[in-house]
Amino acid sequence: MAEMNTKAMFKLSYGLYVCTAKRGDKLNGCIINTAIQVASEPNRISIAVNKANFTHDMIKETGVCNVSALSTDATFDIFKHFGFQSGRDVNKFEDADNSGKIAEGKISYKIAENGVPYVETGTNAYFSLKVEQMVDLGSHTLFICEPTMMDVLADTSSCTYDYYQNNIKPKPQAVGTTPKGETVWRCVICGYEWVGEELPDDFICPICKHPKADFEKIVR
Ligand SMILES: Cc1cc2nc3c(=O)[nH]c(=O)nc-3n(C[C@H](O)[C@H](O)[C@H](O)COP(=O)(O)O)c2cc1C
Repeated sequence: MAEMNTKAMFKLSYGLYVCTAKRGDKLNGCIINTAIQVASEPNRISIAVNKANFTHDMIKETGVCNVSALSTDATFDIFKHFGFQSGRDVNKFEDADNSGKIAEGKISYKIAENGVPYVETGTNAYFSLKVEQMVDLGSHTLFICEPTMMDVLADTSSCTYDYYQNNIKPKPQAVGTTPKGETVWRCVICGYEWVGEELPDDFICPICKHPKADFEKIVR
């Protein structure tokens, strides 16, 4: 039987979103690429969130979240801020601005009718979602949701995963040669590099939490 060419996975196209939640006084959010409209009558939007994410637990417990669609105006800083660190360790909304003006260098947000924040910086729409069904998919939970509110925030084009890879994410540094000729595994999502012969099957990128399948092998 022919071997699976897992690079085919990269041919699936996605948008990118900040998925935000609120539990008690805590506001948080993470980057997801897994928001899609899955039915029209009634309108249903699903999101898949990794169980390791703090946002996951917040959505599971409160049953509500918002999804802000990232546009081509989004900077790498927004991806780093929401996608490369966890709300377990930092308060991602501490320096964010809720005053109504879009302040230079700050992430601006508003509180939607459902009490959950949505991000205004680098986004073109937001959706307020109420969880209808949860499907346990192993690494992720699929939340199938009813949209309770939505609005367009800008006319800028949506940021696809492809656009992020080619235009927003800094290009990984040129691979040099080391005298030792080591094998380096590079996360194609965030550029994190791990040195060693065989990447363990259960390896998870410490920066962006993507699995082994998202690593490519580079021989220096
Ligand atoms: C480009 C990009 C796409 C991502 N896509 C997803 C996704 O679809 N689902 C997910 O659970 N995490 C995804 N992540 C990872 C989370 O955003 C990341 O682990 C985040 O730090 C979790 O934050 P939290 O612990 O505060 O929830 C993505 C990260 C990046 C940079």
